[in-house]
Amino acid sequence: MSKITDCLVKDGYTPLLDKVLIDEPTLMSRVAELGAQISKDYAGKVPLLVCILRGGVMFLTDLTKKLTIPHHIDFMAVSSYGVGARASRGQPRITLDLNTDIKNRHVILVEDIIDSGHTIDHVLRMLQTREPASLTLCALLDKPERREADVPIGYLGFTIPNEFVFGYGLDLDEYCRNLPFIGTVKKEYQ
Ligand code: IMP
Ligand code: MG
Repeated sequence: MSKITDCLVKDGYTPLLDKVLIDEPTLMSRVAELGAQISKDYAGKVPLLVCILRGGVMFLTDLTKKLTIPHHIDFMAVSSYGVGARASRGQPRITLDLNTDIKNRHVILVEDIIDSGHTIDHVLRMLQTREPASLTLCALLDKPERREADVPIGYLGFTIPNEFVFGYGLDLDEYCRNLPFIGTVKKEYQ
């Protein structure tokens, strides 16, 4: 068993957690603000929210509940790093594609975090070739210090410092996506 698995099985996540960076009420109120803003900006249109699995799933499900306009949702999956976000980076690969034809649709791409920006840059370029009416990125978190690819973020939850975070969809070795807050990891588990 890995050190992280061992800790989670024996003692839960508390020993892994350095600090809560964004607590649940703060997340919920920001998601509600984003939902209201998107509802206003897309009034009269029927946007398609595209969630990037698996990290974006908590954000998508909370965001969709806060939209007051008709919309559709769909999912795609991209592998950017092999196993876990901390492994060395390779070329992003679409591992699950959309079921929806996005031609002439107003697409909102819902992503957990923009780090180097390479993953989302690749996805945006690929989706753009399918000729959507518009394509806008909605990211929960932004780590600008790590940016290598210049990606336009239309809607942003929070700007965070350059620290590895987990919870609320983001994983720590594929664990802890279920936590209702965003936390940082203790040095000895990084
Ligand atoms: P990028 O291509 O470097 O922007 O990679 C972004 C992807 O890496 C995100 O969609 C996450 O899945 C993952 N990632 C980046 N930073 C973190 C983090 O701090 N915690 C968990 N996952 C992360
Ligand atoms: Mg992701």
